[in-house]
Amino acid sequence: TVGKSTNIKWQDCSVGKIDRQRLLKQKGCVIWITGLSGSGKSTVACALSQFLHQRGKMCYILDGDNVRHGLNRDLGFKAEDRAENIRRIGEVAKLFADAGVICIASLISPYRRDRDACRALLPDGDFIEVFMDVPLQVCEARDSKGLYKLARAGKIKGFTGIDDPYEQPLNCEIVLEHKGGDGASPCVMAEKVVSYLEEKGYLE
Ligand code: PPS
Repeated sequence: TVGKSTNIKWQDCSVGKIDRQRLLKQKGCVIWITGLSGSGKSTVACALSQFLHQRGKMCYILDGDNVRHGLNRDLGFKAEDRAENIRRIGEVAKLFADAGVICIASLISPYRRDRDACRALLPDGDFIEVFMDVPLQVCEARDSKGLYKLARAGKIKGFTGIDDPYEQPLNCEIVLEHKGGDGASPCVMAEKVVSYLEEKGYLE
């Protein structure tokens, strides 16, 4: 059919993922950070990126907000647009992991089925789901972008947590809990992710 990818064949190359991983001295994987707006996804992604970089590990952040400036600029926030946003970022993240890079995807990704579809793209163990377990009241009190205020005033429709759903992960690899005080700092949270990566052999 015109307009669809048909009559295509997979092309292999003798230089593969294993070779790239050996070169980089790490294993490619996807760290998928999900949570409400204002839960600290981007801050943790950035702290994690700093820690990994300092250790000589190659990582790259795919931030929902940022990717929506380019690749996903044609998408809005209705369920099917969010699904497509997540699908595209999942596919890009898979390419990064195949390149041997530790890819940190930071998106609200409110629907379980969309996150699970991204998980299914990767080899077992290589999709590490991280849940920012921060209550809505805390995110709303922070309101760093002023979006909750607009959503409460009805000026933004379909805002996650206000008049649009967020489905918490049921079985994710890492939960980063909001505790208040020092325990909740982005650095402590990022260190928890680093420990997980170490334990599972992704940093070699
Ligand atoms: S999603 O659900 O995964 O497709 O969303 P994502 O790509 O992560 O984009 C979320 C950021 O977009 C801003 N924004 C909204 N968020 C939720 N609901 C609505 N309706 C909405 N409109 C705009 C908001 O700044 C989100 O950024 P973060 O970093 O999560 O606060």
